[in-house]
Amino acid sequence: MDIERGAQGILVASGPWDPRPWAAAVRAIDPGRPVFIWPDLPDPARIAYILAWHPPAEALADLPNLAAIFSLGAGVEHILSRPLPPGVPLARIVSDDLTDRMVEWVTLQVLIHHRRQRRYDRLQRAHRWQELRQPVAAEVRVGVMGMGAIGAAAAAMLARLGFRVAGWSRTPKTVPGIESFHGEAGLDGFLARTDILVVLLPLTEATRGLLALPLFRKLARDGALGGPVLVNAGRGGLQVEADIAAAIDTGVLAGASLDVFESEPLDPSSPLWDMEDVVITPHCAGWSDPEALVRQIMDQVAALEAGRPLRNVVDRAAQY
Ligand code: NDP
Ligand code: OXD
Repeated sequence: MDIERGAQGILVASGPWDPRPWAAAVRAIDPGRPVFIWPDLPDPARIAYILAWHPPAEALADLPNLAAIFSLGAGVEHILSRPLPPGVPLARIVSDDLTDRMVEWVTLQVLIHHRRQRRYDRLQRAHRWQELRQPVAAEVRVGVMGMGAIGAAAAAMLARLGFRVAGWSRTPKTVPGIESFHGEAGLDGFLARTDILVVLLPLTEATRGLLALPLFRKLARDGALGGPVLVNAGRGGLQVEADIAAAIDTGVLAGASLDVFESEPLDPSSPLWDMEDVVITPHCAGWSDPEALVRQIMDQVAALEAGRPLRNVVDRAAQY
């Protein structure tokens, strides 16, 4: 890649996130490199890379020497929804740090529902000593939607705990110990054998609004937990929240854990807040650590400048 001399600057456009820790992390790794924080940009021609999270469209426009766009997260829908300069690669985060945090959250939520922790919380508040029937993990079928960097790691962890795990993805997979389903044709069979549905899909035109009543009704109803559970840490746009509330109210779903919402922050008037078997967290499942993630981005910058290919490049047609 031919980057004009003197134009290797980095622009941080981190939307609602404080840009300063991201800029500081770049400076700590590469003190000689110019770093700017949007919109404080004296000369757009000096920018070769943009580090972006929900960037304003203007931040991506008119950067004549832009060589690559780096998402500050694994998801990229917040960048793909903006007009992008043609031909400039967009790379996303694939990092053990982020994956490990996501796997922690998913495992915690699956165990909360599996071990009936919300019911024990209620019993504790009522000072009641009561044991509930407890299936072992091997009696419970977990289905992971999205078997990418994060979904595959979560599936492996859940399988290690003894759950019967299956995965659903766009293309076929062969993962030892994990039953694999793919594509639209594989969806119904995947849902019909799933007691706890873990969602780690990207938000694309194909996945938007997928988590709705018609899908919830296809989940297994003969499982050891007495009803299916939804765990979504993918994106809020995947789900129809009115349907989740209705499904919980009518017993179509026995519970849910949600880290992401159609609109964030979740409106204080949402009925989901007060539902006893719904766990709500504020899009913190994969807390993004600037030091760990910038280290990966700066490795990518070094590779590009050494003439090596970028990794984790987003397929713009597939939208992830
Ligand atoms: P990947 O791109 O590695 O994996 C995406 C997976 O989804 C792949 O298995 C892919 O299938 C599958 N997929 C995509 N489209 C479809 C479709 N139409 N039908 C079936 N399967 C599909 O992403 P990551 O694992 O890195 O991240 C997943 C998502 O998690 C991110 O996009 C982001 O939205 C979310 N996330 C949320 C965080 C949080 O804090 N809540 C933190 C980090 C990520 P295939 O393998 O065949 O390509
Ligand atoms: C991500 C996120 O996509 O934090 O990385 O949501």
